[in-house]
Amino acid sequence: MSAPTSAAGAMRTIRFHAYGEPADVLRLEEAAIPSPGPGAIRVRVHGCGLNPADWALCRGLFAGDLPRGVGLDVAGVVDAVGEGVAGVVIGDPVLGPANYVDYASAGASDYAILDHWTKVPPGLDLTQAASLPMVVETAFRSIDWLGVAADQTLVVNGAGTMIGFGAVQMGLMRGARVIATAGETFAERLRALGAVVTAYGDGMVERVREIAGGSPDLIFDAAPVNLKPDIAPAGGVLADLVKIAGGDPRRVLTCVDFAGAAALGVRNGFGENPGGPGGALLRYDVLGDFARAAAEGRFSVPIARTFAFEEWRDAVDISLSGRAHGKLVILPAAASE
Ligand SMILES: NC(=O)c1ccc[n+]([C@@H]2O[C@H](COP(=O)([O-])OP(=O)(O)OC[C@H]3O[C@@H](n4cnc5c(N)ncnc54)[C@H](OP(=O)(O)O)[C@@H]3O)[C@@H](O)[C@H]2O)c1
Repeated sequence: MSAPTSAAGAMRTIRFHAYGEPADVLRLEEAAIPSPGPGAIRVRVHGCGLNPADWALCRGLFAGDLPRGVGLDVAGVVDAVGEGVAGVVIGDPVLGPANYVDYASAGASDYAILDHWTKVPPGLDLTQAASLPMVVETAFRSIDWLGVAADQTLVVNGAGTMIGFGAVQMGLMRGARVIATAGETFAERLRALGAVVTAYGDGMVERVREIAGGSPDLIFDAAPVNLKPDIAPAGGVLADLVKIAGGDPRRVLTCVDFAGAAALGVRNGFGENPGGPGGALLRYDVLGDFARAAAEGRFSVPIARTFAFEEWRDAVDISLSGRAHGKLVILPAAASE
């Protein structure tokens, strides 16, 4: 059931009242400003990062009460604290995932409710902060569950996705040798970070095995599938990754293709560690570490483009095209030109 909303006023939010294709069901509309429940805070949203997960929610992932909001990555300034909240006060800049389950709006709003947060460290601006939560959580959970350690060879398939880009950096931080498959956009940046980069697509199995000198120790797959019904899935890539791994599917973990993982015996980066939504124990505990790393220039999530609230449909279209080429961030307080 949705938490109570305040009569204190109305705000703008992007949300849906029925499940379906995002472009059909999402609306920018007025909604009541939500009040934070026990243990939660409310922030005035500066930036909201969009993710493919937003479109999955529109299509019915983790279905629940409607209306429901999109926009899971939030950075902003605390403007209300719920009962029992300690360590944060009104006026603090914070980042974290929006609670989209218990409230009738999420992060793509003037105000959002957060159950998990960390303070934005000095040196990190709020727009950059809004790009971090899901990338950090997903990439860290995946690299950690895979068990990436120093001197191993890690392949990151789809390193031009923001999850993949984050995972490459985390693999390198652990002392692994990282081979990245990526398009042109971030190839040079990935090389500069220390990865060996090759293209995805035809011939990838042979190219990666040659670079690895045989079977790499571990493979993380973040290449998008099924973004839009009319875009063919990256189809068959998991089978190729198993070939790269010398036929051992347990060396491969995907955060995208769960059906393919079940069919091939590949590890599923979401469901195999119980404790959260969809069966995953989420790793927001490391958000503060990576926010500090970002502030110090040791970790980055490139932003492709920012959008005024009114431009939200452009952001949805670009994300759904599978060619975001960086993070897409809505800035509710900014006016479109
Ligand atoms: N399970 C979880 O917990 C979880 C959580 C969050 C996200 N995810 C999933 O992780 C995936 C990545 O999310 P994201 O937000 O990082 O995506 P994203 O940044 O929006 O990914 C877009 C990028 O994907 C690359 N790409 C497109 N087609 C590709 C292909 N066939 N092979 C490899 N790369 C391709 C493109 O980069 P280049 O072509 O320039 O390289 C493009 O810019 C999504 O499918 C998302 O649903 C899972």
